[in-house]
Amino acid sequence: MHLPDLNVAKDRTRKENVYIDLKEDYQKVFMGKKYFLRTYGCQMNVHDSEAIRNYLETLGFVKTERVEDANVVVLNTCAIRENARDKVVGFLGKCHYLKKNRDDFKIVLAGCMSEQPDFIENILKNHKYIDIVIGTHNIHELPKLLLENFNKQEIEVYSNSDEIIEGMHYERDSKYTAWVNIMYGCDKFCTYCIVPYTRGRERSRKLEEIIKEVEDLKKAGYLEVTLLGQNVNAYGKDIGDTFSNLLEKVAQTGIKRVRFVTSHPWNFTDEMIKVISKYENIMPYIHLPLQSGSDRILKRMNRRYTKEEYLALFKKMKEMIPGVSITTDIIVGFPGETREDFEETLDVVKTCEFDGAYTFIFSPRVGTPAALMEDKTSLKEKEERLYELNNLVNYYSHQSNQKLLGKEVSVLVIGESEKDKSKVYGYTDTMKLVNVTGPKELIGKIVKVKITDAKSFSLDGEYQKEKIVM
Ligand code: 5AD
Ligand code: SF4
Repeated sequence: MHLPDLNVAKDRTRKENVYIDLKEDYQKVFMGKKYFLRTYGCQMNVHDSEAIRNYLETLGFVKTERVEDANVVVLNTCAIRENARDKVVGFLGKCHYLKKNRDDFKIVLAGCMSEQPDFIENILKNHKYIDIVIGTHNIHELPKLLLENFNKQEIEVYSNSDEIIEGMHYERDSKYTAWVNIMYGCDKFCTYCIVPYTRGRERSRKLEEIIKEVEDLKKAGYLEVTLLGQNVNAYGKDIGDTFSNLLEKVAQTGIKRVRFVTSHPWNFTDEMIKVISKYENIMPYIHLPLQSGSDRILKRMNRRYTKEEYLALFKKMKEMIPGVSITTDIIVGFPGETREDFEETLDVVKTCEFDGAYTFIFSPRVGTPAALMEDKTSLKEKEERLYELNNLVNYYSHQSNQKLLGKEVSVLVIGESEKDKSKVYGYTDTMKLVNVTGPKELIGKIVKVKITDAKSFSLDGEYQKEKIVM
């Protein structure tokens, strides 16, 4: 596996517009052909898919929802846990079958699985029908690879790079909320995690580029941006800047709502807390992965904080950021986790009463240190722990939603409710999903909503006509 050098040159920025210059040549080949794009995994992948979609549509491809009709299938994959990989492999089986009867059916594998050496080996041996394998660092090369490969079968494997490509275009999923990459990669090397290997080392985009993107989004009518990074707290470390500075500058653009994900508890600074509490347009919502409540396991995970340090940070956030909602990630069944360790995790959940939690059973990733650790706990025991944990976290998310009953909250309405066409849906400042009884005209507006029902994972509410806060 190739890992980029830590001491890379300060300016690694490259402007990308090759495909725009060559647009007409590409369109001669691709105009009217159909693409099917499926995305697995985290927000980073969702956002990368917006870039992939932009490339495909600029080249002349037309979207199809039916894989059978496609000329190009792009799978933007996730490698974080084995079940994510299983889903992709299952779908590849279907694609392989479809390809047998067709000579104009190309399969492109993109995303984190492409950066896993063990999977690449597997592809070279068992999945020869895949036409293009593209990494997380060279999405901008997709047009070139498609053109080169469209009439011949060939596997192209690209690996990590230190570059930052500026000038990327995105075909965004929403007209109101936008993802904005502020950095790429992760240097934390938590012992269970594949991300530092699949996404490479931490590289920050320049502040001016990020601010320009946010200002352009604001001009285009976007109301909300979410700053994206594996650990946004580390922003600027490689270019002499800080996340608190960036966050403040983004807030000062005046865009209506600013969010960010994800923050590692280890380097969440007081300055960041101050900036969040100072600006009304920085949303009071923090995703703060705990992973475990046991110091022994946290150490084995290389998480760089203790349970007490996590709790102290949590308390400070609650005290300094009025109404803040905090969610978390927790892994159960990490190698060596005993019943006592697990109970410490439950204790932290009881103390923090999280607004929500994503919970996972540990999944060994080839190439990570934790995959080599001895693991005596049975899967059955792990599943029981997960069940117990989920009951507890669901109880607290229900409680936190119940507290909003009868209250009026701000909601950015982003679409029509899928289940009930008489409703629209959106998110509160604190990132809670609300189904709102109200007209479609509310879509794209921030409105006041009175909460009428509270479930574990969503709220119901009624639009308060007189209170549009645009
Ligand atoms: N097994 C289980 N969960 C994992 N996560 C990351 N790697 C693994 C793994 N190997 C979880 C962590 C992280 C979230 C995105 O996925 O909780 O915060
Ligand atoms: Fe993975 Fe840890 Fe980096 Fe998060 S901080 S992406 S869990 S290595």
